[in-house]
Amino acid sequence: MHITVEPSVLHSGQITVPGDKSISHRALILGAIAEGQTRIRGFLNARDCLSTMEALRELGVHIEQRTETAILVEGGGPAGLGQPTGPLDMGNSGTAMRLFAGLLSAQSFDSKLVGDNSLNQRPMNRVIKPLKDMGAKIYSADGWPPLEIKGGQTLSGILFRPDVASAQVKSAVLLAGLYANGETSIVERAMTRDHTERLLRSMGAELNVGEKQIIMSGKQTLQGIDIEIPGDLSSAAFVILAALLSRDCELVIQNVGVNATRTGGLDILREMGANIGVDNVRLLGEEPVADITVRSSKLHGIYVDSSRVSLAIDEFPMLFVAAACAKGKTTFSGIGELRVKESDRIAVMAEGLRRLGAQVDETDAGAEVHGATLAGGKVNSHGDHRVAMAFAIAGTVATYPLRIDNTDAVATSFPGFVDCLKNLGISISSHEEDIA
Ligand code: S3P
Repeated sequence: MHITVEPSVLHSGQITVPGDKSISHRALILGAIAEGQTRIRGFLNARDCLSTMEALRELGVHIEQRTETAILVEGGGPAGLGQPTGPLDMGNSGTAMRLFAGLLSAQSFDSKLVGDNSLNQRPMNRVIKPLKDMGAKIYSADGWPPLEIKGGQTLSGILFRPDVASAQVKSAVLLAGLYANGETSIVERAMTRDHTERLLRSMGAELNVGEKQIIMSGKQTLQGIDIEIPGDLSSAAFVILAALLSRDCELVIQNVGVNATRTGGLDILREMGANIGVDNVRLLGEEPVADITVRSSKLHGIYVDSSRVSLAIDEFPMLFVAAACAKGKTTFSGIGELRVKESDRIAVMAEGLRRLGAQVDETDAGAEVHGATLAGGKVNSHGDHRVAMAFAIAGTVATYPLRIDNTDAVATSFPGFVDCLKNLGISISSHEEDIA
C-alpha cells in the first residue's frame, strides 16, 4: 500500500483515537492467566494486538471478541494454558514476542515464537538472557527470532539490572516472575512504561514499586477484572503534530492515556514551543487519562538529552518531523534504541527527511535535524507504521504532494489513521498498490 498527502490544513475539532497498544496486549495476556473473566473495553483492534489474541487462543484460551473493541477473556488461572499445535505467530510485534517469551518460559509445555521479516531482525537476547538466569530454556539463532522455548523448567526469581531501558524486557521478566519461586527484583536504569505493574496490581498482585525498582514475589494468582483502555497517546501524537503545524487550529483529543511514563513526547514538543493543554485528568482503573487540547504553534529547535528518551521512545519519528518543521536545529541524543525498532528509525527518518530537503546529520545514537521548508516527492516508510504516519504529517506542510510507500503496517497500531486525518480536513488517501 501507499499513502498520498497533499499540502492541507487540519481543521479544529474533537476526536478520539484507538485504544492503547501496550495496554491492549497486557490486558489480554494477564486476563488469560487470571482466574475468572476479564472484560476489556477500548481494545485496540489492530494487527499487533490481534497477533497476541490469536496466540492466546492457540494456547487454549477462550476469548470472545464481542465488538471491535469489547473483548471477553475467560481466564484459566496460572496453569490454564495448554500446548499449542504449531508455532505462535507474533506478526510484526516486538511487544508480543518479548512478553510471550516471559510467559511461555514458565509453562509446562514446549512452544515456538515466530514473526515477520521486520520482527526477525529485532534483538531477543535482552529477554533471553534474564529469562535464562531465572532457569528458562530458550533456543534461538544467536539471539534472533524465532525462539524455541522448552517447557517444564522450574524458575527462580532474580535481581535483574537490564542493560537497556525497555518495558518489554521488564514485562517479560515480571511475567516469568509471577510463576517463579522467590522474589523477582528489577532495577531499571531509566523509567519505562509501567502498564504491566499497574495491571498486575489491579488484578490483585502484590508488588513493591519504587521509581526505578520493582520487587514482586512469585507464585501469585491474578483475578479477572473489567479493564477500560484509554486512547493511545502514541497514536494521538501524529494528530497532535498535524494540529501544531496547521494554521488557527484548536484540536481536542479526548480520553487519551497520559501515564507519566509515556508523556515525554509532549514535554519535548512543549519545550519546542508547542501549545498543548492536558485537562480533565482522571483515572481509568489504574491509568491516568485526560483530554488533550492542541493549538497551532511555531516550533523551534532544542537539545533533547538522553534522560527523556525512555519516556518518549515511540514518539521519535513524529519528533524528527517536528524538528524538520521547527526553526533552527534540534539535537537528539541517546536514541540508539531507535535503531532496533520496527525499522532503524534514525536511518529511515534521516533518509526520508533528506529526500524532502532537510539536513539531518546522524551519529550512532543520535541525530541533528535542521529545520527546513519541506518539498514533496516520494519517501519509503520501510514497512514501519510510525515512520509512515510521521511522514504523512510531514506531507501536510510540504510544498508539493508527498507519496509514502510501503505503508501496510499503519494497521498494526492505528487503524483508521487515514480517515481520521481526512475527516479533519487533510487531503490524504491510501492506495492498495505499492509501486506506481
Ligand atoms: C512497548 C515498549 C516499548 C515501545 C513499544 C511498546 C511495550 O519498547 O517502543 O512500542 O508495550 O512494552 P521497549 O520497551 O523495547 O523500548
